[in-house]
Amino acid sequence: MKNKKIDKTPAILDFIQSSTGLILGVFIMGHILFESSILISNEMMYRVTIMFEGYYFFGETYPGIISFLAGAISIIFILHAGVALKKFPNNYRQHKIMRNHVLQMKHEDTSLWVVQIMTGFIMLFIGSVHLYTMMAEPSNIGPFASSYRVVHEHMAPLYFLLLLSVVSHAFIGLYRLAMKWGFMESRNTKVSRRRFKLLMKSLIVIYIVVGSLSLMKYIYIGYTNDFEPGTRYKSTIINLKAH
Ligand code: HEM
Repeated sequence: MKNKKIDKTPAILDFIQSSTGLILGVFIMGHILFESSILISNEMMYRVTIMFEGYYFFGETYPGIISFLAGAISIIFILHAGVALKKFPNNYRQHKIMRNHVLQMKHEDTSLWVVQIMTGFIMLFIGSVHLYTMMAEPSNIGPFASSYRVVHEHMAPLYFLLLLSVVSHAFIGLYRLAMKWGFMESRNTKVSRRRFKLLMKSLIVIYIVVGSLSLMKYIYIGYTNDFEPGTRYKSTIINLKAH
């Protein structure tokens, strides 16, 4: 009998998609929380910023670490999107079949997949702009520098759209991963799936609320301070270059 070779490409692509998705999902959960440090105080956001710049490790700040991190996240982001693009309906006929399928089935998990395609498409553009800025201007992060960008460089609307897209995309993605990896298989799979779905929806709401509040705080700081371009926050406790 002839030894038929199994094509492993779909399995490899699937693994890349899941693992990069998991990394990005965990990253964004941390990102929005760290960045919400602005809700506590300017000083707290400043401390978080210098922590990522290596201050508590080297005793000095190295913004290049942020560029490196943003570069690494960009590579994972591109890999994730590249594999996902293969699943986009790539002509009108496929699009129509998918649309009819969603309308007829009225199945929530199928509709979630459509949300993933739409939010993913939005992030491809806005996420790239943001990642590039972080990579190119790593020293322009801090309570004042970030607020200046949000208000005076008009990033607020983009950030809000990005927030809605990335939070929905991340938690729907993690929910689908948990389903795929069998975390919802139990004595009562239906109940378990319902619980996971409730968890997913709650986390989406919590993260959107926290992210929106942070964004409002950046907007408030941006409007209530008479910033010149390049104005930096100056810590009263840590005597370092100003942010
Ligand atoms: C290492 C890479 C990244 C760094 C260093 C970073 C850093 C930051 C910083 C400092 C802000 C505050 C506003 C500003 O300074 O402009 C911010 C906002 C934001 N970032 Fe990122 N970011 C990174 C990657 C990403 C990615 C990959 C996404 C999603 C695709 C993302 C989504 C957002 C969103 C939605 C906001 C607004 C958050 C809010 O409304 O509270 N970021 N980011």
